[in-house]
Amino acid sequence: MEKDTLINENKLSIRSDKDYSIISSCLLNILKKIGVGTLKCAQTLFVCRELAVNVLVHGKGGDIIFSQISNANGQEGVRLTFSDKGPGIPDIRKALKGGFSTTGSLGVGLSTARDLSDDMHIESSSEGTTITVWVWK
Ligand SMILES: Nc1ncnc2c1ncn2[C@@H]1O[C@H](COP(=O)(O)OP(=O)(O)OP(=O)(O)O)[C@@H](O)[C@H]1O
Ligand SMILES: [Mg+2]
Repeated sequence: MEKDTLINENKLSIRSDKDYSIISSCLLNILKKIGVGTLKCAQTLFVCRELAVNVLVHGKGGDIIFSQISNANGQEGVRLTFSDKGPGIPDIRKALKGGFSTTGSLGVGLSTARDLSDDMHIESSSEGTTITVWVWK
């Protein structure tokens, strides 16, 4: 897991599909402020979309914390933390391998989000799931 220093933080809830427009504009604001390039912005929006949909579909709703961060080298980035109190991920290893879905979907959201972010940390139990991703400029 990356070590980082917090610059700024914001929290929004994920209760319905409609919440995504405010979530994506909040994320885009931070990415632009940091000066993240277009491709990485698009990738990070994809990561955020997949993890937010998972919170809704699998976690029955939750929230997201947007953190503007820097590291020891002065590099800036964003840390996104998705939390829900759903049933938890039944098999994290399988879920990260891709092609595994408990809802008959493709099962590629989580593994692609991991591949498109710089780091991902998952904590999941029968009490809920917290997924953190780091994206550096
Ligand atoms: N927040 C969560 N809470 C509980 N289970 C989860 C959560 N996120 C993912 N999972 C589990 O991990 C599996 C894989 O997630 P992933 O996003 O890759 O696939 P999916 O959501 O089923 O399909 P899609 O390809 O449409 O995203 C899910 O089917 C689900 O069982
Ligand atoms: Mg998914």
